[in-house]
Amino acid sequence: MDPGESLSDPAPKSASAYKDPGYWDGRFSAEEHYEWLKDYSHFRHLVRRHLRPSHSVLEVGCGNSRLCEELFGDGFADLTCTDLSPVAVDRKRRRLLDRGLADIRVMEADMLDLPFADECFDVVIEKGTMDVLFVDSGDPWNPHSATVSKVMKMLEGIHRVLKPGGMFVSISFGQPHFRRPLFEAPCFTWSFEYDTFGDGFHYFFYTLKKGSRTLESNGCISKKCSIPSISMLHEEMESEDYLLRTCIDEL
Ligand SMILES: C[S@@+](CC[C@H](N)C(=O)[O-])C[C@H]1O[C@@H](n2cnc3c(N)ncnc32)[C@H](O)[C@@H]1O
Repeated sequence: MDPGESLSDPAPKSASAYKDPGYWDGRFSAEEHYEWLKDYSHFRHLVRRHLRPSHSVLEVGCGNSRLCEELFGDGFADLTCTDLSPVAVDRKRRRLLDRGLADIRVMEADMLDLPFADECFDVVIEKGTMDVLFVDSGDPWNPHSATVSKVMKMLEGIHRVLKPGGMFVSISFGQPHFRRPLFEAPCFTWSFEYDTFGDGFHYFFYTLKKGSRTLESNGCISKKCSIPSISMLHEEMESEDYLLRTCIDEL
């Protein structure tokens, strides 16, 4: 984040504000740029390892991040950025126009109800956006069912819009033992792998390749996803202050 570009104290009083679209609209009205987790330079090597510039890419929950501009700079030409916030979308569209990057599409869209046809993107990417759904989710080992059903709705939509062989990239501070049961729900055919990046605090770069498993072999016969149980032992229980600790190694 460049000096002078963000609010002096962008964190809300309570983490539950992250679930309020009004919070994001207000924030984006006053803030030009902020990178959640880490900026592109920290995980560029992983993008280059897993993705090809010829891929069509959908970013969900782009906010005012520069991820799409960085991808464009690395040769990705087929880019669509989406966010729920009309303010973020409007400001990003103007920013891209000013920078001569109007070829990057920017659209208002709810990641829980993606307005795209089936199998139309090679890659769907999100950074810190799924994490918003875990705000107020209670015990991370056993999140509220409302949280799990929203996450499943998001994942079902992403799985649906990915082409066969397409990849979902999720960049998060959510640890694999919390994410795996959701990503590996039986109705998804994607594989589950991850890399880590960052100094000190590690962030996760999840790569889920669609079509690596069959629905039958997962025992899933209905198209509707069942909600997985991710309750586990508390042996590694940590304080998970979602989002508020996203830039923890910069403190
Ligand atoms: C933590 S910020 C991450 C922003 C950006 N990806 C980054 O890395 O800087 C979460 C973003 O998700 C957006 N968001 C929240 N709920 C959403 C939803 N249901 N659909 C799409 N975007 C959503 C917010 O407006 C915000 O831009």
